Amino acid sequence: MKINETDIEKIRECKKVAALTGAGISAESGVPTFRGEEGLWKKYQPEELANFDAFMKNPELVWEWYNYRKELIREVKPNPGHYALAELENIIPDFTLITQNVDDLHRKAGNRSILELHGNIMKNKCLDCGKITDSIGPIEKGELPRCECGGLLRPDVVWFGEMLPQDVLKKAFNVSEQSDLFFSIGTSAVVQPAASLPLIAEENGSFVIEINTEPTVISDTVSLFLQGKSGEILPELIEKVWHVS
Ligand code: OAD
Repeated sequence: MKINETDIEKIRECKKVAALTGAGISAESGVPTFRGEEGLWKKYQPEELANFDAFMKNPELVWEWYNYRKELIREVKPNPGHYALAELENIIPDFTLITQNVDDLHRKAGNRSILELHGNIMKNKCLDCGKITDSIGPIEKGELPRCECGGLLRPDVVWFGEMLPQDVLKKAFNVSEQSDLFFSIGTSAVVQPAASLPLIAEENGSFVIEINTEPTVISDTVSLFLQGKSGEILPELIEKVWHVS
């Protein structure tokens, strides 16, 4: 990891920290990313599945796909990148984690101040009464999960063409704008509105660090681009900046 002493000093002085994460941070846990060679999108064409029309047309198929992803996510564990961000929340009192991931791994790693922009795959929402439920009871083959009111349940995630939860998004914009240190980690930074958060942070004078295995559309403009796996770079960065005796 290439970082100079001046940047280390600058980062150490920061008091308001926000971190935006994308699928890349969970790649080392074994959760496939969306874009790229191993992307879920390649195998399953999720644009066709992750939208409301597809769900209404064929809820069995969409539920089958979500159940597959839920099973996969249930078995995976946070990796050193997730744990490093949990440690950062302990070091910096004013720390907010903004994630596009629906996999719950940040919470499992120990972060508490989390803004989930795209929802949480483990939660379900009733199409009729809007109630959010965590678990679905046993379902007979060929049946669909239902709310206690009888309404059809859907995964409580944001689908293509849907609005993000507005209160969560507003908070994400606020903390990005007010941050003096902002991380963009493991995200291709192309899906809006999340993609504008690093730019907003930068416009407001924040020191923006990008961590990604590949350069992205924002790599040239950030304050510091650290190329590599987040599970390796983040622990190393924390060691260098905050583990000082
Ligand atoms: P992408 O799949 O678009 O991007 C993953 C990024 O992680 C890429 O830039 C990779 O280079 C990088 N990457 C892969 N492995 C990494 C590692 N070990 N360490 C660091 N970086 C790594 O995923 P997102 O940007 O999260 O939205 O995608 C954003 C949204 O697009 C998703 O939340 C999803 C999708 O449409 C919805 O479902 C609404």
